[in-house]
Amino acid sequence: MLELMAPDFMEREVFCCGPTPYMNAVKRLLEASGFDMSRYHEESFGATPPEARADAVEHAEQAADAPQIDVADLHQVEFTASGKSIRVAPGETVHAAAAKLGLLIPKACGMGICGTCKVMKLGGEVDMEHNGGITEEDEAEGYILSCCSVPKGDVRIEF
Ligand code: FES
Repeated sequence: MLELMAPDFMEREVFCCGPTPYMNAVKRLLEASGFDMSRYHEESFGATPPEARADAVEHAEQAADAPQIDVADLHQVEFTASGKSIRVAPGETVHAAAAKLGLLIPKACGMGICGTCKVMKLGGEVDMEHNGGITEEDEAEGYILSCCSVPKGDVRIEF
């Protein structure tokens, strides 16, 4: 397919961005074709920086001391296709809710840029703070980016 789409790919500069398994597949494919890998470039969002990890530990320690959350503040997140649902604390994302249920919504950047984690919202409201990873048309149709959408109440997600 690559030869069909870009017959001169062996002479090109290749820029790759996407979920890690996709980028690994592209890399393997190019290597197997004998592509000059000095002309292969990939964009990676990388691992969590050490200072962010330190922050997370600090927050976890503070959370351990925090008062218990009122059950009334918990929002129900229902995943219709898998028939699973869970109550989440304020501030938790739809993606995190899915992960707690063992539902792995594909995710790459985790910050609303790439659009990998897009899912259809069937009901309820979310706060979505994305960074350009979704079009206005998709939003109008009801799609959300699960990595950066926090339920404002009970929500239903098609997944
Ligand atoms: S994982 Fe990239 S937008 Fe959600």
